[in-house]
Amino acid sequence: MSGLKMKRQLGIRFQLIAGIVIMTLSGIVLIGALSAVIIERTAFNWKVNEAERLVSFLRASYPSETVDPSIGYRHFVRTLKEFGAAEYAIVGPGGRLLAGEAKKREYDGGDVVYSGESLTIKRLGGGWFRGMGDALHVTARLKQSGKDGYMTFTLPLSGASEDLSRVRRFLLIYALLDAVVIVVFGAYFLSRYIVAPIRALDKAATRIAGGNLDERAEAHVDNEVGSLAASFNTMADRLSSEIKSLERANEELNTAQEELLRSSTLAVVGRLAAGIAHEVGNPLGAVNGYLDILARGGLSKDEERDILERSVREVSRIDFIVREFLEISRPASRPLEPVDMNSVVRETVTTLEAHKDFRGIDTAFVLKEGLPPVLIDARKLRQVFMNILMNAAHSFAGVEGAKKVTIESGTETRTVARRRRRDDPRFSPSPERDFVFVRVTDMGSGVSTEAASRIFEPFYTTKGPSMGTGLGLFVSQSIINTYGGEITLSSSEGAGASFTVSLPVPVEKA
Ligand SMILES: Nc1ncnc2c1ncn2[C@@H]1O[C@H](COP(=O)(O)OP(=O)(O)OP(=O)(O)O)[C@@H](O)[C@H]1O
Ligand SMILES: [Mg+2]
Repeated sequence: MSGLKMKRQLGIRFQLIAGIVIMTLSGIVLIGALSAVIIERTAFNWKVNEAERLVSFLRASYPSETVDPSIGYRHFVRTLKEFGAAEYAIVGPGGRLLAGEAKKREYDGGDVVYSGESLTIKRLGGGWFRGMGDALHVTARLKQSGKDGYMTFTLPLSGASEDLSRVRRFLLIYALLDAVVIVVFGAYFLSRYIVAPIRALDKAATRIAGGNLDERAEAHVDNEVGSLAASFNTMADRLSSEIKSLERANEELNTAQEELLRSSTLAVVGRLAAGIAHEVGNPLGAVNGYLDILARGGLSKDEERDILERSVREVSRIDFIVREFLEISRPASRPLEPVDMNSVVRETVTTLEAHKDFRGIDTAFVLKEGLPPVLIDARKLRQVFMNILMNAAHSFAGVEGAKKVTIESGTETRTVARRRRRDDPRFSPSPERDFVFVRVTDMGSGVSTEAASRIFEPFYTTKGPSMGTGLGLFVSQSIINTYGGEITLSSSEGAGASFTVSLPVPVEKA
């Protein structure tokens, strides 16, 4: 398990409680240690005071020369023993041992804890880290008839040390109990007022991020986390209503777009129907007239043949138009094969060179070799090139100078715009695709802006009825669109025109 996941699983509750435990324990240990030191100091000072008091008392009862010294010393020694003093010695003037064992006046070693003119108290053992110590060693000056003597004794500290370790044990147990109480209550309050509301917030935020906009944080506590949860809920309300209104707006936009598409489609269909009615209606009217004349009779054989030939021409025109439309609406009948656009355009030019309209045209090829193949019906692609090349040839009508047509090819990457909603699983923000293109550029009459806007419409033609139907570019565009490509025009009047046919390179399936 990764460290991050582990941390996440431990969660805020564990981290906070661990923090509390560490802080509480260290606080209690520090305070406990401080209390132990203070108590130890106090007890020690009290012991030192006791030693001082004992010395004062003994000095007061130090036997004078007038009293029987042996009685005085006995009393003296009894008092010392009552206080638990050990290793005592009373030394008179001139170093005469009056009671106890002979002792040096000063004790070697030990720390001096009190040092006065006539009194020195040393601590034996103990210290900062070793506790109170084992005993106090006292040396006090005694005066008799103006002559110096002294007494020395030790006061054991063992009793006080035992008291002190009892206090320490009590402090330890008290600290542990304290820690348990603080942790239990701390955990409860943390959990109730901080952890639980934060968890509720976290859960709500995760659900909202997952798309459930109606989720809210259930954290009713009267503190900052509670008001954070309340603000979060308000924010979620706003977000949800904004998103809903955006969705509504989007839906309306889509409906409007569909409506627009439908009405513009209707307009195109209407224009198309009118065009067909007009284009088919004219030859049909002519045939009707011819049939009338024939029905009336009284014509010579030659006249009858002439009228029949005219009728056949008109019917052929109707037949051509109907076939073109059938061609558009018919689905691709042959299985698609990979086609090299260079070869198709070369073949088309070769075929066209024999055509009378193409005579005198100078073609130049700037083809990029090794183009990726495209998927299209080669027969239909030839039909498209045929129309564009014938249009180029016709554009030189009435134009002086060389009749040059340049044919280029190549590849390019383009962003395919898609009209799709963002929540559509097939949506990808910028689908880049490779395209193969063939561009036919002529130096003919060019196309005016007005004509350019109508050039792909059915029946739009500037050629006479016997020259064109105006279906060439319309049909070509339908064909290329069917295969995922497009035809674009770039032109200005009087400066030639350039038609680009581009088809997508098939995407290799993984
Ligand atoms: N290369 C070009 N230069 C100038 N004008 C052009 C060019 N290509 C097309 N046009 C204009 O666009 C019109 C429509 O062309 P389109 O190929 O659709 O029909 P058409 O050539 O008139 O008739 P059809 O192709 O059915 O015989 C043409 O009549 C012509 O005015
Ligand atoms: Mg044409």
